[in-house]
Amino acid sequence: MEHLRILITREQIAKKVGELGAQITRDFEGESVVLIGVLKGATIFLADLARQIKLDATFDFIAVSSYGNSREQSGEVKLMKDVDQSMEGKNIILVEDILDTGLTLTYLKKQMMVHKPKSLKIAALLDKVSRRKQPIYGDYVGFEIPDEFVVGYGLDFAERYRNLPDVCILESEEKSS
Ligand code: IMP
Ligand code: MG
Repeated sequence: MEHLRILITREQIAKKVGELGAQITRDFEGESVVLIGVLKGATIFLADLARQIKLDATFDFIAVSSYGNSREQSGEVKLMKDVDQSMEGKNIILVEDILDTGLTLTYLKKQMMVHKPKSLKIAALLDKVSRRKQPIYGDYVGFEIPDEFVVGYGLDFAERYRNLPDVCILESEEKSS
């Protein structure tokens, strides 16, 4: 059996997403941005963040190979779906649910630079700083969290729990009773 413990409430998330949106709005005043969501975990964050950005904005989505049904990153990242439109000369904001080892975003950043954008920023709702294996930082980060496996607000475990409104720690019951 698995047990869920709330780590970040929907109210805390809403407040933070509002702040991040305001910051992006200020940083790109008078310009257009392309929000590129990393499927599928970033969809809910992107949907909320986008509505807090008061700029001319478009969406695109990319997909990478993921953890599968395990909690550990294989170390290998593969692009499964690229952007639909040209990114040349655009202000790209890569939107991700969580920065963990940093392998995914390091790979995606490199991949997106091939498209010659005007600028490239990273927005991540969560950041597990202590797990980092690559020197990569988010430009717009919601919350730094401890090294716990979390689900909800887009984040999954074996595709489940993405629809939870709060970010929760997924605990396995065997640990205690
Ligand atoms: P990274 O390449 O290790 O930075 O991993 C980033 C990806 O791992 C994220 O896009 C998530 O899909 C997944 N991930 C990392 N930590 C968690 C977690 O605690 N819960 C759910 N997914 C996670
Ligand atoms: Mg993901």
